[in-house]
Amino acid sequence: MGALGKTVVLLLVAATAVVCTPFVNDLAPGQEWPARNSVRQPNFGESQTEAVQEEFSTDDPTSEITDDAVIIGKAIQPKTDIQRVDYSGAQIWKVSTEKSGSRAVISRLRRRNLISTWGGNQYSIDILVKSDFVRNVTRVFERENIQYEVVILDLQKNINDENPPLDENELGLQDRRGHRMTWKQYHRLEDIHGFLDYLAKTYPSIATVTTIGKSHEGRDLKVIRLSDGKPTNKAVFIDGGIHAREWISPATVTYFINQFAENFDVESDDIKNIDWYFLPVVNPDGYEYTHTVDRLWRKNRKPYLGTRQCTGTDLNRNFGYRWGGKGSSSYPCSEIFRGTRAFSEPETQAINNFVTKSAKNFTAYITYHSYGQYLLYPWGYDNALPPDYKDLDALGKSMAEAISQAGGSKYQVGSSSGLLYPAAGGSDDWAKSQGIKYTFTIELNDTGRYGFVLPTTHIEPVARENLAGLRVLANQLKK
Ligand SMILES: *[C@@H]1O[C@H](CO)[C@@H](O)[C@H](O)[C@H]1NC(C)=O
Ligand SMILES: *[C@@H]1O[C@H](CO)[C@@H](O)[C@H](O)[C@H]1NC(C)=O
Ligand SMILES: *[C@@H]1O[C@H](CO)[C@@H](O)[C@H](O)[C@H]1NC(C)=O
Ligand SMILES: [Zn+2]
Repeated sequence: MGALGKTVVLLLVAATAVVCTPFVNDLAPGQEWPARNSVRQPNFGESQTEAVQEEFSTDDPTSEITDDAVIIGKAIQPKTDIQRVDYSGAQIWKVSTEKSGSRAVISRLRRRNLISTWGGNQYSIDILVKSDFVRNVTRVFERENIQYEVVILDLQKNINDENPPLDENELGLQDRRGHRMTWKQYHRLEDIHGFLDYLAKTYPSIATVTTIGKSHEGRDLKVIRLSDGKPTNKAVFIDGGIHAREWISPATVTYFINQFAENFDVESDDIKNIDWYFLPVVNPDGYEYTHTVDRLWRKNRKPYLGTRQCTGTDLNRNFGYRWGGKGSSSYPCSEIFRGTRAFSEPETQAINNFVTKSAKNFTAYITYHSYGQYLLYPWGYDNALPPDYKDLDALGKSMAEAISQAGGSKYQVGSSSGLLYPAAGGSDDWAKSQGIKYTFTIELNDTGRYGFVLPTTHIEPVARENLAGLRVLANQLKK
């Protein structure tokens, strides 16, 4: 890694009042999800203004390489919410980082806003080369003798082809089904929420929906619980869509919900002996924004009102365990902006409230992201391992094996900091710190051929093979 120049910036951060999202329980009578008596409150200060001196390095290439590793430079952030961001002529390259100094070159290109970074590992980084700078970046790599391969020639074309409308046949089925959800398309939030409500109405004895909070723009954070209500059941929390553009994640989580809800009676005891809690879209504002304005938006949509006016916090850097550490940024325009403090965002706060106040002790927490095909366990904040990491590693390997047998995709297993790079403030570290034993971040398909823009034909195979992985987890929990 090249010399790290350090840009030190002093920011006056006006920490505004925390808008507390009330715990809304809109379940039918007799179906209350009880709250714990001794509620552990998150440790926020009340309304206050504080001067925070923050420092960030813009030169550390790994600081912008993330769990799914990413950066969209400021230049392609939309200036307005009306016009769609156009990626015509933008390309995706897989760049080898084996040559020493190559990461520094990539960092420099990113700072000059010629590229942004997508996924990566120890050997390579996928970069988005902006259409105007394909020549410039080519020249730099040739001069520096850095190897690369063009993976996507025109990103906008991939975006246009990714999510075609349903055919007549599917539309007909949709009308008869009572909800609009399919796994042949990436659906808008309305369809996903309509599907959850449909299940609660259709299967009231096992399915209940509650809103655990609201997003910054006021959208519901809907959790569905699937459970036969046995008091001995263990509890599992599963979420998706923390990062807006990772469309395969909510698609996969809703696939699980559909499988369990529609087949509950004939499901295995492993599945029935668990209270399942699913939050398929953690970041509904960002998710909708990827459908309407910028397909590649990652963060939430809460504006940062300071000297730097940028929108969005990386929710997966905003959780309250070792918040503020490596692999997160204090720079509001960064793709991995961690927020002004732990749980500064309503979306992460809602999860924190829900999980810590629930009467159930969750034994597993799984969060679905894309891409890269990894099964990652804590810790993420630094290269360290929890005391029971061998249990996590063994289970992760069994899950990966089941995924591979079911559908053929190979998932690598390891700690997120060890296999990828440190990133503090992730939901998985926080879940583990809450005593949830089996905590995983799963990076779904693929390994970079399509990246975030995975065509809809992949939804069913990806979800199906990951259901096989989830069954292995359910089986482990009965032991
Ligand atoms: C890209 O290359 C062109 C042609 O050599 C040059 O004029 C331009 O300044 C370069 N742009 C950047 C941002 O380096
Ligand atoms: C959950 O864990 C706490 C602390 O370990 C314990 O006091 C409580 O009884 C547990 N609750 C359930 C429902 O198992
Ligand atoms: C997942 O991605 C891998 C690597 O790109 C590919 O070999 C595999 O076929 C994909 N699996 C599915 C189910 O799409
Ligand atoms: Zn992600």
